[in-house]
Amino acid sequence: SNNHQAPRGDHPERFSSVGFIVAAIGSSVGLGNMWKFPYITGEYGGGAFFLLFIVSLILIGLPILLAEMTIGRGGRGDSATAMFNLTGSKYWRLFGLMSVLCAFVIMSYYTVVAGWTLHYTVESFAGVLFRGGDDFRGKFETFAGSYWPVLWQVVVMAGCAWIIAKGVSGGIERFNKILMPGFLLILLLLMVRSLTLPGAGEGVQFFLWPDFGKLSAESVLVALGHAFFSLSLGMGCMLTYGSYVSRKQSLGVATVAVGIGDLLYAFIAGLVIFPTVFSYGLEPGEGVGLAFMALPAAFAQMPFGSLFGGLFFLLLAIAAVTSAVSIIEVPVAYAMNNWKWSRKKAAYVLSAVCLLFGIPAALSVGGVFGGFQPGGKTLFDWYDFTAAYVLMPLGGLVVSLFTGYAWKRAKEEAGLSGFWNGVWMFLMKLVSPILIVLVFLYSVGII
Ligand code: PHE
Repeated sequence: SNNHQAPRGDHPERFSSVGFIVAAIGSSVGLGNMWKFPYITGEYGGGAFFLLFIVSLILIGLPILLAEMTIGRGGRGDSATAMFNLTGSKYWRLFGLMSVLCAFVIMSYYTVVAGWTLHYTVESFAGVLFRGGDDFRGKFETFAGSYWPVLWQVVVMAGCAWIIAKGVSGGIERFNKILMPGFLLILLLLMVRSLTLPGAGEGVQFFLWPDFGKLSAESVLVALGHAFFSLSLGMGCMLTYGSYVSRKQSLGVATVAVGIGDLLYAFIAGLVIFPTVFSYGLEPGEGVGLAFMALPAAFAQMPFGSLFGGLFFLLLAIAAVTSAVSIIEVPVAYAMNNWKWSRKKAAYVLSAVCLLFGIPAALSVGGVFGGFQPGGKTLFDWYDFTAAYVLMPLGGLVVSLFTGYAWKRAKEEAGLSGFWNGVWMFLMKLVSPILIVLVFLYSVGII
């Protein structure tokens, strides 16, 4: 029923207008851009994969991003409350549970990788990383297989809980505004270093020259899944952030800004990693350790490399935290609205629960749980697969259908009319549901 009365006015907790855009970019730019994007590009088709990713980002990602922000602001609540507020139907509340589950799954392995970056920060500043030869692959494997990753995971989780407990403008917004620009600066510096290594051209060619023969059906699934992951979609994250933004903010502008920001960071990350990988004779299909093997090699060759390396990994850890914070905000907002928990309690209790899911993942990359591989995947890989290729696309499907069919006032809240609203509705009603269902059926092995 669409005669349900949507809430008026703004949420009591609020981002500033710039703060909202920066926080949304902070959520989208993270390990997905710097760690995951390069290694899946390496595995699933190089330049042709990059192109596929850009198409998924524009065709499916951005319209769903706009939809999530619109639903969040219109319904002024977490992923369960907002959809209910807009339709009065309790079935849409299920999206809330799905997104809370997805947040736990992502956090479980995201904090593992964020923890790795902290370890590399310390080792790099201290110079230890560069002693004893440049077998950076061996060094990564030894570290990832030890117990240290658990300690760093706890540090990351505690940091996230602390920021979240400080609230939307005093915690999330403030933190994002300081860190995101600094990160870009160091990244550009690194790009210059990596592009001037001997043999860099080969890496650039691998990254940017599309050879469509390298694509497989799986490439399409991975590209689409990564568009969701990279834009933080399908699990209520952008929806929850959208609930904290003023009615005056243009959501169209925010959507374009996040899209450009996300793509830019991924592009630069590719230009940092692939030239280094080729210059050092590493394999671009090296998998989850790729960034941790390639980047130290570049730093080792650089004057003041241990300083730049330390700084880089520190900023990367921080970019990871600005994303992780947005993930955990999903269950936190849910618990605050639906169970009336205080922000502090929700932040600390739910982070602790996340940790229980996460520790086994930290020990599954060559550690004690490394041998446990049902279906040929480690726990770490299973979490990643479930989140990026199952739960997030399904969540995106729900958001599309909700915007396309269930909530009739979406275009007013989004500020769209005429041609652009027509395009948006066409994508929400038809293109994105059909594509997601096809890709999903493929991924679970039905077609
Ligand atoms: N978009 C983040 C990244 O690319 C990860 C993320 C996923 C953040 C889901 C929030 C929600 O690193």
